[in-house]
Amino acid sequence: MAFHFIFCFFAPILFFSLFHCLFNSFKSNRRRPPLPPGTLGWPYIGETFQLYSQNPNVFFASKQQRYGSIFKTHILGCPCVMMSTPEAAKFVLLTKSHLFKPTFPASKERMLGKQAIFFSRGQYHTKLRKLVLRAFMPDAIKSFVPNIESLAEHSLRSSEARLVTTFHEMKTYTFNVALVSIFGQDGVVYSENLKRWYYVLEKGYNSMPVDLPGTLFNRSMRARKEIGRILARIISSRRRMKPDCNDLLECFMCEKEGLTEEQITDNIMGVIFAARDTTASVLTWIIKYLGENPSVLQAVTEEQEAVMRSKEEQKLSWEDTKKMPLTLRVIQETLRVASILSFTFREAVQDVEYGGYLIPKGWKVLPLFRNIHHNPEIFPDPSKFDPSRFEVAPKPNTFMPFGSGTHSCPGNELAKLEIMVFLHHLTTKYRWHMVGSNSGIQYGPFALPQNGLPIRLFRK
Ligand code: HEM
Repeated sequence: MAFHFIFCFFAPILFFSLFHCLFNSFKSNRRRPPLPPGTLGWPYIGETFQLYSQNPNVFFASKQQRYGSIFKTHILGCPCVMMSTPEAAKFVLLTKSHLFKPTFPASKERMLGKQAIFFSRGQYHTKLRKLVLRAFMPDAIKSFVPNIESLAEHSLRSSEARLVTTFHEMKTYTFNVALVSIFGQDGVVYSENLKRWYYVLEKGYNSMPVDLPGTLFNRSMRARKEIGRILARIISSRRRMKPDCNDLLECFMCEKEGLTEEQITDNIMGVIFAARDTTASVLTWIIKYLGENPSVLQAVTEEQEAVMRSKEEQKLSWEDTKKMPLTLRVIQETLRVASILSFTFREAVQDVEYGGYLIPKGWKVLPLFRNIHHNPEIFPDPSKFDPSRFEVAPKPNTFMPFGSGTHSCPGNELAKLEIMVFLHHLTTKYRWHMVGSNSGIQYGPFALPQNGLPIRLFRK
């Protein structure tokens, strides 16, 4: 009797629960969109080798031709979805950015430090961005023009009449500019020591995160500790003065919103990493494109000579850099053609549907800046270096050399400033020729002319 009662009571509940589960699972299976087309390549290595061993234009263009504007692949040990339209980039970086988190390879994250701005989200990221933007907004960087100018002049003088690797020289210049913007005058004092350890650190950026004696990663982590010690000394000497937001370090130390010493270390490493190779690669490409386009070089030189003639004193000012529209277009066109960051990385924090396809939770999502910048419907004859195309402003979300949305580049004004100051002295005082074949591309880690562009530089 009791059994009969229990059966009659629970059976309908059991039946309905079962039916409900089956119905839901059928519904979600039916609604689950397919993965994007494409291939995941070899186990673990995927298509990493194909991507980094050929001209990136060829890799991305052939994928897009075969599979369309959204496709899947597998690089650097992760399954990825690549997206090559302005709308998709806007979706990932801007309108639905909360569905994606910034992500980096594990070795890079440990070397830069977990609390660096790139990996952070939410309130902590908002706070960091406020501090970084305060240090790099035009009003703040104006005062660095004299320092940047003397670094540019010194860099050119030291390269005179020798065979130099452009990228190598540019890395020294952009490293020194980064230090000045972070530490003000202290940057010059600590430069050699910081440079020495930073050069050891960077060798392990793309290594496997295996912290055993003798490994690249282990050496890099030791260099990180040394840099941490130097930074601790600088911070303690600054604490004795009253920090007033004259440079990035002071902004990080300011009383109300100040960061801990560990957070400051992670973010200073992060800014050096973000500022140096990017700007050095762009400068290297500009020198190559100007060398290959004599009429553009002539026009830039005339613009820079006019700036020089228009003033009594020899030194450049912030206002002078606003009288260089053609030079600015050369920078923009270089950023477009070279697209030194072919893409950026995000990770889906939940299953996301886009364009009728599924992006599974945990997969990397890569908006392809390079494909957007080389789309002939947006930029006709895309491989031609033609600065005049920037006489008309590009449409929204079609030109993203500095990214887009909450993680877009806060250093873009400083990058343009240091490039302009350098080009002013290069074009008005020097001529150069490239040595050897320069048609290939290598990664260092950003797209770079073959062998870092060897050149010989002479005074006019
Ligand atoms: C021409 C040179 C440069 C290029 C092409 C460039 C490009 C970019 C891009 C595309 C991003 C966004 C990455 C993403 O969304 O995942 C970014 C972020 C960043 N850049 Fe730059 N950058 C340059 C120079 C600089 C300089 C000079 C500085 C500092 C002085 C700097 C500091 C940063 C920082 C701190 C971030 C991270 C922002 C965040 O996560 O909120 N960059 N950069």
